[in-house]
Amino acid sequence: MAEPLIDLRIFDSGAELASAAAEEFMRRAEASVRARGRFAVALSGGSTPRRLFALLADPSQPFRDRIDWSAVHLFWGDERHVPPDHPESNYRMAREALLDAVPIPQGNVHRMRGEEPDAARAAALYEDELRAFFSGAPRFDLVLLGLGADAHTASLFPGTAAVRERERWVAAPYVEKLDTFRITLTPAVLDRAVAVMFLVQGEEKAGAVRTVLEGARDADRSPAQAVCPTDGEILWLLDRAAASGLENREKRAGG
Ligand code: 6PG
Repeated sequence: MAEPLIDLRIFDSGAELASAAAEEFMRRAEASVRARGRFAVALSGGSTPRRLFALLADPSQPFRDRIDWSAVHLFWGDERHVPPDHPESNYRMAREALLDAVPIPQGNVHRMRGEEPDAARAAALYEDELRAFFSGAPRFDLVLLGLGADAHTASLFPGTAAVRERERWVAAPYVEKLDTFRITLTPAVLDRAVAVMFLVQGEEKAGAVRTVLEGARDADRSPAQAVCPTDGEILWLLDRAAASGLENREKRAGG
């Protein structure tokens, strides 16, 4: 199977990266709503997307009012095993930075139930939600992903079976190093996306970026390498610090 082309864009700052990501989000939302009457997007967690969410929510920016939020359906790529109001909840971060500031119908927000005591049941419930929404196998119009310094993405961590999961759509891996369960979309879903967009910034990610993009292929050690859309695009939006380890940086600098 041919590897999808990687659209690599390097920005001088995190602010420029977030602005380019917001532009990409809006452009894809407009195109998806025009073509299919809806925009199904899986949000990434952690801290990097906060700036993107704030830009999308800011009425003084050109994004919020050009997006038909009534046709946007928000999902998550992963969630911590915590309630939705917990400081570590990816849903809570998105609610504070985005959901509370845009006119998206409550029914369009499809969060993972991190509060469910049994993480495996939370994963099964999310699979039911995906099946109901997509009337079958999920194909997201856009999946946002981050990258950990250990090259994990979503909650696909090195050495966990979820990295190789090609049947189940949602898994609930126990992550030894964090001593916690997580709920995560698996490569079975990520690889069906129309587009996957990695947003990565900061010097501490430079080694992982280099390993994933230029190192030997070993998804067990570098789970972000497991993401390989079969009929979709991969975009990497990096700031200069995160890209500083790359040998081969002449790709689309500056977006
Ligand atoms: C999470 C994630 C995870 C995140 C990376 C990067 O729930 O933490 O989804 O994959 O994207 O760990 O996190 P930062 O953006 O905080 O560096």
